[in-house]
Amino acid sequence: MSESAAGNEAVSLLAGWMWFAASVIGNAEFWVILVNRSHALPIAHRRLKLLRRLHDLAVPLWPLLLLWLNGLQQGSLLRGGSLWQQSLWTRRLVLFTSFWCLTLILQVLHWQFRQKRQARECTASRLYDVKAETKDSAVAGVPGLLAAVWPGNQYCQLDVNLKQIAIRTSRQRAEQPPQTLRILHFSDLHFTGTPGLSYYEFLVQQAELQAADLIVFTGDLVDKPELLPEAVRILQPLTRIAPCLFVLGNHDWRYDYEQIRQQLVESGWRSVAGTAMLLRIRDRMVLIGGSERPWMSDEPPQVRESFSDLTVLLSHSPDQLRRAEQLGYDLMLSGHTHGGQVILPLIGPVFSPSRYGVALAAGLFQQQSPVLHVTRGVGAKDPVRWNCSPELTLLEVSF
Ligand SMILES: [Fe+2]
Repeated sequence: MSESAAGNEAVSLLAGWMWFAASVIGNAEFWVILVNRSHALPIAHRRLKLLRRLHDLAVPLWPLLLLWLNGLQQGSLLRGGSLWQQSLWTRRLVLFTSFWCLTLILQVLHWQFRQKRQARECTASRLYDVKAETKDSAVAGVPGLLAAVWPGNQYCQLDVNLKQIAIRTSRQRAEQPPQTLRILHFSDLHFTGTPGLSYYEFLVQQAELQAADLIVFTGDLVDKPELLPEAVRILQPLTRIAPCLFVLGNHDWRYDYEQIRQQLVESGWRSVAGTAMLLRIRDRMVLIGGSERPWMSDEPPQVRESFSDLTVLLSHSPDQLRRAEQLGYDLMLSGHTHGGQVILPLIGPVFSPSRYGVALAAGLFQQQSPVLHVTRGVGAKDPVRWNCSPELTLLEVSF
């Protein structure tokens, strides 16, 4: 065989393997997109679980199916055959699945060059190993046991951080000097028994130290309804420090969410779901609305023409961003996406239940209106976190 023929054969072999790899990676990305988008919609939990199981099967089985379709005979992709020599179905399937590699490449570039900085932006932070602080290593069930042995799992850590936001609103009165409001934001507590109740008591102790003007919780309180009384008991002391406002999330929607709401309200927390509340804080009028869309409650009210110095929307899902803009809110605070929970080196977060995929997984998005803060949240139904510690955030909002 001549040297050039050997070279051509090596190039063909490489191209075939690359098509195969692109198809496998693109197929995984396609299913991740389906899972992310579907979890942003008001779809019944059992259907979401079914889709997740399909994802769990389709990702590892696709390479085997492709191998079965394409074979290993002379002229197949893995033996140096061209894609255009393959059967019509193999060509179609390889092209369709490989296409999704493009979205993955764009997503990785976005993460590396823009989003990573936004996700990590904070003025000060302190990371606690709460298991060591509380000497409590409670876990519940198989997910809890798996979480406890997962290498590098951060589910028992807590990042207490400070983030600064500057907001210019059209309603600001020229004669007023700038003011700074301290909003304590946390979300997605997901009481499941893993971590134990001591973890949440530690979180509340840290929250009490922050000298906040306003405390907000943006949904997903329990994943074991029998823990609701304990969850309410643990959060109740915060109501003695500052006004405590909340909306519920899609995990609360799976249970008797009006019962969850009622118990929180009876403990002194105030629900702003589908409404807005005007509070006088530091001599300024602050209007706080709430959205539990697309799962529960009515739309929050239009606030563009309101008599207030600052308007804030609590929305469990960051997907309400464009709606918040239309309604005239200056600042939106969200959770739901958990920062992706697992952040892979180079690639970044993968799973994020949002119509925007991982683009709004977590962080401070200041160069837009409304300014958006998406917290990584505190807990998770599946308590696995990697490069994505739980967080409790004090937002210093200047306006
Ligand atoms: Fe959540």
